[in-house]
Amino acid sequence: MDAISARKLIIAIDGPAGAGKSTIASRLARKLGYTNLESGAMYRALALKAIEWDVSFDDEKPLRKLAEQVRIGLEPTIGGNRVMLDGKDVSTRIRDRDVTEAASRVSVHPAVREWMVARQQDMGKDGGVVMEGRDIGTRVFPDADLKIFLDADPVVREQRRMAQQKIQGEVAASVAAELRERDRRDRTRAASPLVAAGDAVIINSTSLSEDEVLARAEQLLSRVARSRLPFWRSPATPLRILGEFKGSQAREVNCATLEELEKRRAESRAARGAAPAAAAEAARTDDPGPEAKLDAEREAEA
Ligand code: DC
Repeated sequence: MDAISARKLIIAIDGPAGAGKSTIASRLARKLGYTNLESGAMYRALALKAIEWDVSFDDEKPLRKLAEQVRIGLEPTIGGNRVMLDGKDVSTRIRDRDVTEAASRVSVHPAVREWMVARQQDMGKDGGVVMEGRDIGTRVFPDADLKIFLDADPVVREQRRMAQQKIQGEVAASVAAELRERDRRDRTRAASPLVAAGDAVIINSTSLSEDEVLARAEQLLSRVARSRLPFWRSPATPLRILGEFKGSQAREVNCATLEELEKRRAESRAARGAAPAAAAEAARTDDPGPEAKLDAEREAEA
């Protein structure tokens, strides 16, 4: 991991609730000495303010105004992000059921998302971050060095959530139904729906332990370190995609060729009309750029 620490990367971890994003993001960040930023906590903090100020979750304009007025701070700690709202620690309160439901509703509005995305881009622009959420690889950092989409079977995700929150009995059924509804809302909203970026590596954690997921994430990271190029440009062994999304269904596909992955990356860039990633990369890191580095590496090997 030494080479990784020499260059400050942006790592995007997206996926639905209960897939294990927070745990992996915080463990990965701790290992790398990076900052773990939990973007969902920002939507939760805004939702809490909307509850306190009695602003309707369906009214986009007042919610955007509220977002502009409040001060939301994420302070990474060993046990996760401390979330500050107008100077008050709301880390525990924002996990409550009413705020969870409200966050899902306020996050559908494009004007709210636009504000959040700008703040998140600003927070991560210098690299050295593991940012988790729903749209980090697709919208917040489309040129992230590594994008992981962490998914799991819905039933397993529900069970994990229940265990995490120690929920049992009758309440469990309604909490599970709420989670399914939030999932549906996240995946079907018009603005930045929850979807894996075309160039994300999908890890399905249904039958994997936390340690196994972390090991896979580290494996991907060491490719970045080896090449010191964005993961997708690695001249090393052909890349292996662990899964691919079709609609909302994850399916496993293995051993995409480097060319295939590059093609997908180019399509994903063209679809969002972005500047070529290589140029963006060179600008961000003062790096001569992947092409030049590849050439230099080939020359050195010759
Ligand atoms: O990850 P979380 O459960 O704390 O997120 C709370 C809500 O915020 C969730 O309903 C989806 C939304 N969210 C989002 O729309 N985009 C993000 N990048 C992060 C969270």
